[in-house]
Amino acid sequence: MGGVSQEQHTGFKRGELGEQEKRLRERMGRVKHKIAVISGKGGVGKTMVTVNLAVAFAKKSAPGKVGILDADIHGPCVPRMLGMKGDILRISPIGAFPATGPLGIKVVSIDFLLPSQETPVIWRGPLKMSAIRQFLSDITWGELDLLLIDLPPGTGDEALSVMQLLPEMDGVVIVTIPSEVSQDVVKKAVMFARELNIPVIGVVENMSGLICPNCGTRIDVFKKGGGEAMSRELGVDFLGEIPLDPRICEASDEGMPFIMVQEGSPAAKSFAEIAEKIWGFLSEKGSVETEKHPEHVRNMDKNGLRREADDKEVNA
Ligand SMILES: Nc1ncnc2c1ncn2[C@@H]1O[C@H](COP(=O)(O)OP(=O)(O)OP(=O)(O)O)[C@@H](O)[C@H]1O
Ligand SMILES: [Mg+2]
Repeated sequence: MGGVSQEQHTGFKRGELGEQEKRLRERMGRVKHKIAVISGKGGVGKTMVTVNLAVAFAKKSAPGKVGILDADIHGPCVPRMLGMKGDILRISPIGAFPATGPLGIKVVSIDFLLPSQETPVIWRGPLKMSAIRQFLSDITWGELDLLLIDLPPGTGDEALSVMQLLPEMDGVVIVTIPSEVSQDVVKKAVMFARELNIPVIGVVENMSGLICPNCGTRIDVFKKGGGEAMSRELGVDFLGEIPLDPRICEASDEGMPFIMVQEGSPAAKSFAEIAEKIWGFLSEKGSVETEKHPEHVRNMDKNGLRREADDKEVNA
């Protein structure tokens, strides 16, 4: 890494296994797969992709085996998109535990530690890195099949910290929108992953055409086909495209991942294909244990959103 030392970015002393790093290695060693969701530009749908991917995976796995680390310190949105606003981390004498969301998804976000929803986090790089390091090393995540990491846009401090703290990362999913401006910066995201030796699982093109809710006609709001062409040019896999759909925004605002509430929509179908490709990638790397219809999925309400009463009480 040109001019940037490991010590500067991870806070761990070179050659010296600090207690915290040992804890991090031990805790993260119990997480089978780790994927970071990144983008060049902001607002392209990373968080939306992260939470829906978590749901898609949680539906297939045993309860409590999927986690999300919201590594967006200044603009944490995972809690809102999973209907977990106001939840808190569970702290007990034996440790700190993630909050539990729909389908038992374990979530850690700075948002769960802030005194109010309006409180901004005004931190420079080192403090943000320290928070991310503690989220990975000091939270009792337990045995996970998959940890998804939602990053802020670009290739700044948070992204660099996560990649350096987790060199064993399975890979990154890059989210873009079909405009040349966005695609230019995606190239930087690809180069960033390559520089750090993290595999690029593939590119998701979000907001790719608008399907008219009345007649079903597709309107290409931005240009068409750019994400796929760019992926080919960069030699990375194109995972698929998700159309612009007002119901996705509505569902996100209401804290309901859209693949749970609009199962038959074109967006949900294309998301399922994207998730399938990502599982394919993980399966090739190592076993991904999935159950067809685990008990917690069979027992959930029609939206799959009911959480255990216990969790509510513990988090109250
Ligand atoms: N395909 C889509 N159709 C409609 N709305 C969408 C779609 N994808 C994302 N959105 C909405 O666009 C907004 C931005 O999405 P999101 O927060 O996931 O982007 P982001 O890349 O995580 O942003 P940031 O860079 O700020 O972290 C959200 O309100 C989300 O609900
Ligand atoms: Mg986001």
